[in-house]
Amino acid sequence: MSLERLHALRTALHVHNRRYYVEDQPTISDAEFDSLLRELQALEDQYPEVFDPNSPTQRVGGAVVKSFETVAHKRPMLSLSNSYNAQEVAEFVQRAQTSAGEALSWSAELKYDGVAISLWYEDRQLVRALTRGDGVKGDDVSVNIRTLQGIPLTLPEDAPNELEVRGEVIYTHEAFEALNARREAEGQEPFANPRNAASGTLKMQDSAEVAKRGLSAIMYAVFSEDHAFSRHDEAIRAIQQWGFPIPDRQKRWVETCNSLADLENFLAYWDKERQHLPFMIDGAVLKIESTALQQRLGNTAKSPRWAIAYKFNAETACTHLHEVVYQVGRTGAITPVAVLDPVWLSGTVVKRASIHNSDQIAKLDLHFGDAVWVEKGGEIIPKITGVELGQRAQDALPVNFISHCPDCGTALERRKGEAQHYCPNAKECPPQIKGRIEHFVHRRAMDVEGMGAETVDQLVQLGMVHQPSDLYAMTALDWSRLDKFKTKSIQNAMEGLAGSKVIPFERVLFALGIRHVGETVAKKLAKYFGTMEALSKATTETIENVGDIGPMIAQSLLAYFSEDENRLEIDELRQHGLQMTFQAAEGTSDVLKGKSFVISGVFSHFTRDGIKAAVEQNGGKIASSVSGKTDYLLAGEGVGPSKRAKAEALGVQWLTEEVFRTWIGSTN
Ligand code: IVH
Repeated sequence: MSLERLHALRTALHVHNRRYYVEDQPTISDAEFDSLLRELQALEDQYPEVFDPNSPTQRVGGAVVKSFETVAHKRPMLSLSNSYNAQEVAEFVQRAQTSAGEALSWSAELKYDGVAISLWYEDRQLVRALTRGDGVKGDDVSVNIRTLQGIPLTLPEDAPNELEVRGEVIYTHEAFEALNARREAEGQEPFANPRNAASGTLKMQDSAEVAKRGLSAIMYAVFSEDHAFSRHDEAIRAIQQWGFPIPDRQKRWVETCNSLADLENFLAYWDKERQHLPFMIDGAVLKIESTALQQRLGNTAKSPRWAIAYKFNAETACTHLHEVVYQVGRTGAITPVAVLDPVWLSGTVVKRASIHNSDQIAKLDLHFGDAVWVEKGGEIIPKITGVELGQRAQDALPVNFISHCPDCGTALERRKGEAQHYCPNAKECPPQIKGRIEHFVHRRAMDVEGMGAETVDQLVQLGMVHQPSDLYAMTALDWSRLDKFKTKSIQNAMEGLAGSKVIPFERVLFALGIRHVGETVAKKLAKYFGTMEALSKATTETIENVGDIGPMIAQSLLAYFSEDENRLEIDELRQHGLQMTFQAAEGTSDVLKGKSFVISGVFSHFTRDGIKAAVEQNGGKIASSVSGKTDYLLAGEGVGPSKRAKAEALGVQWLTEEVFRTWIGSTN
C-alpha cells in the first residue's frame, strides 16, 4: 500500500515539476508540493530498496562522485564549421541549395555559450548525461545534471522509449553574477565567464552544491530510433511537449527562415541585440530543417554539411593607453592594469583594462600613448587585444614591466611555470600585510568588529602589526598611539578582538588567507581534519581525499605549513585562544526544509547575515525578491513598502522575528 503511494507520489511530483518549471502553470501551491515531497522522502527512507536516481527527491543532489566515468557517445558529437561574414554564409547557403536541388527551409538559432550535454532516455527514464568530451566519448555527469530543475528525469507516456536530446548547459547572467558574488564574498576567485562557470559546476564532485548553483539548459537537437521526425523544428516542438527547455520562438531566439535574406535578417538582428539576451551567446547556428535532406547531405569527419555556425565579431572599441599601474595583491601577485581614456563598450564605460602579466605587455609591444583596442570577450574586466601601430608617436616610450615592487622596492620574482611576478617580501611589504590583516578581520573571516580598512592602514603604517597575532598582543597603550583612538574606540577594538576568539575553526582557517583556501574549502578541510594540528601534518594524498579539493589546493597547503614562520604564527594564535578544533554546528535542524524566505527590514536578535544563516542552518532557502515561489516574508522593523505590497498581492505569509525564533528554538 505504502509502496503504491510512493510510486503514485513520484509520478504526481514529476507532473507538478513539469507544470511549474516548463509550462509555468502550477496547479498546486508550493506548500502542497513540499508536503508531497516530504511524504515521498519519508516513504523512500522507509523503503530504500526502491531507490530511484530519477525520483523527484533527487533534485537536491547529495550524491558525491570521486571521478566521472567516461562513456562512448551513441552518436558522435560533431562540431560545426564556422563562418565569419555575410559572404561566407551566402556561399554556404548557395552550396547547400545546389546539393539539395530544392529551395531550403532553415532553422536559424542562437549559439549558446555554455557546455554541450547529451541526455539519454531509455523507457522514458533519464539514464545518462554525458559531456561532449572529445566528441567520441564524454564524462558521465548524470548526478549533477539531475539537479537541474528544467531537465525532465522521466518522460510522459507519449515520448519514445529510446531518446537522445542534446543541448547546452548555461548560466544566465543573473545566476552567473549571483554565483560570482557569492564566491567573492567567500574569498574565492570569481569565474572568468559563464561558460567556465558552467563547465566547472558540471564537474563538481558534490551534487548538492551543484543543486544550489542555478544552472540552466536549452536543448537544440533530438535523436530517436523509435520516432521519426521530418523536420528539426517539429522535433524541438515535440521535446517541448515532453518537458524539455527549448529556445523561445516568441523572442526570436529561434526562427524559421526561407531565404538568404531571412537568414541575414536574423543574423543582423542578433548582432545588435545580443547584449540584451539574458545569457551569453557566441554566435548563431543555421540548420537545414528537413531531416531527410540532413541525412542526404551527411557529415564530414568533423561537422555536418547541413549546418553552419556564424560567429559575431566581439565588441571592441579603440582608445588610448594613458598609464600602466601595478597592483600588489595580498599574496604578493603583481597585476599590471592599463589606465585608459574612458570609452564606451557594450553598454558600460571602460577606464581600465587588465593586461594580466609581463608576457602580455611584451606580446603587445605596448608603448605609452598607444591607440589600443579593448574587447569584452567574455571576461568581466575588458582586455587589450591589439595596438594600432600606425598611430604610434615616434618618440613613444615602451612600457617596461617593473623589476621591483612598487610598494616596498623588493626585487620581484617569477616562479617557474607561472606567468605572474610576485613580491617575495610577504612579511614586510605593506599592501601584502594590509591585505592579509584586512582579510583576517573581515566580516566573513574573524569578524572583528570596529576594525575597518583605515584602522588596518594605520596599524601597518606605524609598523605595529605584521601578522594577525600581533593584533591580539596589543595593549591599550599601543592602541592609544592610533589617530582618533580614545577610551571608547580602544575598548571597542579590544573587545572586538576578544570576541573573535569564539569564531569557529573553519573561519580561523579561512582567515589565515592561505592561497586557494576560500570559505568553502576551509569548511571542508576543517570538517575533514578536525584540528589545525591534523591539517598541518596532512599529506597531498589525504588532502586530495577531501571532496572537490585538487592538487593545486593541496600544494598550497603543504607550502604554507612547510614554512616555520607560518607554524609559529599559528602557535601564537592558538596561545591567544583562537579556535583550532572543529565543532559540529549547534542550532542546526531541518525544520524549515524546502521553505523559501525573503528577508526584509531590521531585526533585534540577528544581524542581516545572522538571520540568513539561521534560515539556512535550519534547512530554509533565501531568495532576494518576493515571487510566487516565496513561502514567507521574514519581516523585521521597517519592511520595504514594495516588498510588503508584493507579498500581500501574492498571498505570501508574513513572519515576525518572534515567531521565527520559536520555530527554530532560538534563545539568543
Ligand atoms: S547543433 C551537429 N545548435 O556549438 C550539430 N549547437 O560547434 C551539433 N551549440 O558543441 C550542434 N548552440 O555545444 C547546435 N543552437 C545550437 C547550439 C549549438 C550552441 C554548441 C554545441 C556544440 C558547438 C558546435
